[in-house]
Amino acid sequence: MSDHSDAGRATATKEAEVWRGQFGTKYSERNLFNAAELDRTYVGKYGLTRTALNQSCLADIPRSSSILEVGCNLGNQLILLKQMGFENLTGIEIHSDIVKEAQSRVPWAHVSEGSALNIPFGDASFDLVFTSGLLIHILGLMVSMTRFSSFRQFGRDWFTFAAAAMRNRSQSGER
Ligand SMILES: C[S@@+](CC[C@H](N)C(=O)[O-])C[C@H]1O[C@@H](n2cnc3c(N)ncnc32)[C@H](O)[C@@H]1O
Repeated sequence: MSDHSDAGRATATKEAEVWRGQFGTKYSERNLFNAAELDRTYVGKYGLTRTALNQSCLADIPRSSSILEVGCNLGNQLILLKQMGFENLTGIEIHSDIVKEAQSRVPWAHVSEGSALNIPFGDASFDLVFTSGLLIHILGLMVSMTRFSSFRQFGRDWFTFAAAAMRNRSQSGER
């Protein structure tokens, strides 16, 4: 029996069912990107690369830090972090087939099956915990994640960055 504060929380939500099924499979097929391709999709959507965004949030983070991505899919974000020099990378993902694929695609990361609603690690397990593209799908997730102080800090940096990026875009007339 785990002593995590969210242990026992229901993980079989409607959203989880959708992500574990065909929808999740098709999403991962459409979003299998190497680092350069992922950066290009970010430029198309947000006007800057994901690498630049990571630099702005993570430049001062020691490269030996342990990092957990919740909802890592096939490991696209982990690949960018590795490219920045981070070595101690872990991901959890809810779709079991995608977990297997990620394990062979990014064998240097520790990817395992797990739900954001019952994160299988204790509070002090990581220096930094983040999600990317996941929070918008799970309203209750923010509550689960905020128990990690490292997530709260990253979240503040992220929202500060996102607000600045949106301001830049609207000032330059982009939509
Ligand atoms: C929009 S994708 C984002 C993938 C990746 N984080 C990125 O930025 O490229 C959301 C991912 O979260 C996973 N996911 C959805 N609900 C989850 C949950 N409750 N726990 C863990 N992973 C979940 C999905 O299967 C999917 O791989």
